[in-house]
Amino acid sequence: MSKKMNFNAYISGTGFNIPERVVTNDELSNYMDTSHDWIVERTGIEERRYIDSEIGPSELSIPAVQMALKNANLQVQDIDFIIFATSTPDYYAPGSGCLLQNKMGFNNIGALDIRVQCSGFIYGLSIAEQYIKNGTYENILLVGSEVQSTAMDLTNRGRDVSVIFGDGAGAAIISKTTKDKGILSSHLHSEGKYAKELWLETPSSKKNPRVSSDMLKEGSQFLKMNGREVFKNAVKRFPEVIEECLNANDFNVNDIDLLIPHQANIRIIQMIQKKLNLETKKVYSNIQKYGNTTAASIPIALAEAYNDNLIKDNDLVVLAAFGSGFTWGSTIIKW
Ligand code: UT7
Repeated sequence: MSKKMNFNAYISGTGFNIPERVVTNDELSNYMDTSHDWIVERTGIEERRYIDSEIGPSELSIPAVQMALKNANLQVQDIDFIIFATSTPDYYAPGSGCLLQNKMGFNNIGALDIRVQCSGFIYGLSIAEQYIKNGTYENILLVGSEVQSTAMDLTNRGRDVSVIFGDGAGAAIISKTTKDKGILSSHLHSEGKYAKELWLETPSSKKNPRVSSDMLKEGSQFLKMNGREVFKNAVKRFPEVIEECLNANDFNVNDIDLLIPHQANIRIIQMIQKKLNLETKKVYSNIQKYGNTTAASIPIALAEAYNDNLIKDNDLVVLAAFGSGFTWGSTIIKW
């Protein structure tokens, strides 16, 4: 009888790409009643990036994927499966993963889009983890990429949402190893009763036509958020799901070397840090530069933290996200 091998899934390469166009808080205050001081005080965001030509998340992700492949020492042909996390797909159909498969010349491998908004990268990691651990695939590309700027209402009506979000892309390669390292576990949650607290209504397949001039006049093509409700739930769910992944693996908060939370608001990040009693240097944040890039925020932060030598072999790294759905989750990794 053949002996069943045990495989682990580890992150073999990371990469990121952000558009060149910097949009400062002062620029936004030309379009709406807001100010640099208000945005910094309430969110920590100093600037974000917007695409400056008609490109979608598939194209935006290409340099991020190239960087991740290079860091993993792999070629396009080595990838067995694509998982593309985005809440702002290039088109309603087909998925951005298929577009990326063609644009980068991947083999005719599976390409799966997932739409779990800010939690997309965590959900994607958990899918990759299963395929690698059961021996199906050796190298999986996971992308988190977003073009949020085209869903921003840059008027007073949308100022509570539009000051937060930005565009960007991150990528990671998840690879097979027999070594004792990699993703230890992932923990996923949802609570759909809050769907309309952070949502984008148009286009909707319930409507015929899916988009009309009335809908555009109402602004239902823009992302809408009940910021206070989202904030309240986020500060509860983040510590909960971080504790959940620690408990599942018999660790405690002191064992964490680096926590990379989804970058939604610096005040949320500070509240998580305080609740868990973590040192500032153990909690990564780059929100000041990029704002909230939804599914791209964790892979961008992970790639930056890795490039800055903040992650070393054997470190315990925890990733955690919360967002529209509501969905939330965590992943715990022995690097
Ligand atoms: O990634 C997905 C998850 N998203 C999040 O986690 C976001 C969670 N929510 C938040 O980050 C915060 O709720 C916001 C940053 C969106 C808003 O901050 P807040 O401290 O919750 O402000 P608020 O909504 O309670 O509004 C306070 C005041 C209001 O004025 P009044 O009613 O007190 O007169 C708003 O109209 O601030 C006003 N306001 C603004 N003022 C200047 C709202 N947006 C702006 C703005 N500039 N951009």
